[in-house]
Amino acid sequence: MMEKTGSKRGVFSGHLGYILATAGSAVGLGNIWRFPYLAAKYGGGIFLLTYLVLALFFGYTLMVSETAIGRMTGKSPVGAFRALSMARRTADLTAKGSAKATAKATAKATAKGSKNGWQAGGWINAIIPMLILPYYSVIGGWVAKYLFEYILGHVSEAAEDGYFTSFISSPLGAWGWFMIFALMTVLVIALGVENGVERVSRIMMPGLVVLAVVMAVYSMTRPGAAAGIRYFLVPDLSHFSWMTVVAALGQMFYSLSIAMGILITYGSYMKKDVNIENSVHHVIFFDSGIAILSGLMIIPAVFAFSGGKPDALAQGPSLMFVTMPKIFESMSGGRFVGILFFVLVLFAALTSAISLAETCASTFEDELKWSRKKATTVVALIVAVLGSLSSLGFGPLFGVTPLGMSILDFFDFLTNSLMMPVAAFVICIFAVYVVGVRKISEEVHLSSRFRFEGMYRICLKYIAPFFVMVILLSSIANVLGIITI
Ligand code: PHE
Repeated sequence: MMEKTGSKRGVFSGHLGYILATAGSAVGLGNIWRFPYLAAKYGGGIFLLTYLVLALFFGYTLMVSETAIGRMTGKSPVGAFRALSMARRTADLTAKGSAKATAKATAKATAKGSKNGWQAGGWINAIIPMLILPYYSVIGGWVAKYLFEYILGHVSEAAEDGYFTSFISSPLGAWGWFMIFALMTVLVIALGVENGVERVSRIMMPGLVVLAVVMAVYSMTRPGAAAGIRYFLVPDLSHFSWMTVVAALGQMFYSLSIAMGILITYGSYMKKDVNIENSVHHVIFFDSGIAILSGLMIIPAVFAFSGGKPDALAQGPSLMFVTMPKIFESMSGGRFVGILFFVLVLFAALTSAISLAETCASTFEDELKWSRKKATTVVALIVAVLGSLSSLGFGPLFGVTPLGMSILDFFDFLTNSLMMPVAAFVICIFAVYVVGVRKISEEVHLSSRFRFEGMYRICLKYIAPFFVMVILLSSIANVLGIITI
C-alpha cells in the first residue's frame, strides 16, 4: 500500500491506500472496547448523538487540517510545525523589508529555527502517542489473554462473575499478557513489516465488520435486549450531563486518531491527487460505523444479562470483558465465535498500536536523528515502564490512585481529556494564524471541490478552539473539585 519512492519518504498508492492505513489506525480498541463502555456510562442515545455531531463537525475539521498540513509539508508533526512557522516568518519579513535584510533574517531564522516555539506544538502531538501506547498495550494484553482462554475452551470460566477482576488483579498474569502484546507491537516496528500488516488488514477489517454484524444481531435478539437497543439508539435528554460532552469529545479524538500527529504523518504520505475531503469522510463513516456496531453488540447484551441496572452500565473499562464472555457462553459454538472475535479485536488493536509506536519511533528518528534501533529501544522502554505501572495498578499498586483514579484510567484521562484538547487547540490556532486558512483551502482544493469549506472555516476559526478550551477548563475544574459535572 505504501510505495517507496526515490526519496526516503513513502507514499500511499492512492485513495484506498490512505483510507486503509488511516482506518487501520483509527479502528481499534477505541471502537470496540472504549466506545461502548462510555456510551453505556454517559447516557446511551444522547452520548451517541453528541459523538456523531462532534465527529462530523470537529472531527472532520481537525482531520482535514492535519492531513492538509502533512501533505503540504511532507513531514511528520514536529518538522511540519517547524517548516510552516518558518515559512510564515520569512513571508512576514519579505513583506516588511528589503531583499537583503530578508535574506539575512531568513538565514538567522533558519539557524535558530530548529528551536522555534511552534515546535512545541508539534511535540505535544508527538508525546501523546507515547503516553497512550503503554496503557493501550495493557488492554491489548487483556484481549490476548481472553483469546488464549477461548482457544483452551474455557468458555464458562471466562463468563463467571469475578473472573475478569481476579485476572487483572493477579500481578503476574495480567502483566505477562501486557508484555506479550507490547513485544508483538515493538517487534513489528523493529522489523519494519508494517506493510505486511497492512496487507493482512485488507482481509481482517472486512472480517471484523461481518463478525460484528453477526454478533450485534445475536445480541439484539436476546430476550430483554430491546430496552438496551432503545437506551443506546434513542437520545434521552434526561441522561445528558456536561460529562457526556467531555467524554464524547475525548472519545472522538481517540477513536479518529486526531491530535496525535498520526494524521499529519499520514497526510505527508498522501499524493496530491487524492481527494482529502472524501477520504476524511470515508474514514469517519467507517470508524463511527464500527463503533455503533460495537455498541449494538455490547449494550443490548448488558440489558439482556444484567437488566441494564445503573451499576452494570457504569462498569467502565471492564464492560467488554465481562459482557462478551456471557454472550459466548449463551450461544452454541461459543468457543469458536469467541476465538474469532478476540482474534479480530486483537488484530484491530495491533494495527492501532503499530501506528502509535510508529509515530513515536519516527519522531525520534526525524527529530533527534536516532537510528531505527535506538528509537525502537527507547519506545519499548517507555512502554515497559509506563505500561507496567498501568497494569500493576489493578494489583500490587492498587492503592496508588492519582486524582482518585486507577493508574490506567489516569493515563487515559491525562491524554484524552487534558492533552488532546490542548493539542487540538494548538492545531486550530496554528492552522488559522500561522499556516492560514487560505493555504489549507488551496491544498484541499488541489484534489477536491471542498464542498464543506464554509463550515470548515467557521468551525476551525471560531467554534473548535473556543469549544475545546471550554471543555478543557471544565474537565480540569472537575478534577480539582471546583465544579461538579
Ligand atoms: N484510534 C485508535 C482506536 O480507536 C487508537 C489510537 C489512538 C490509535 C491514537 C492511534 C493513535 O483504538
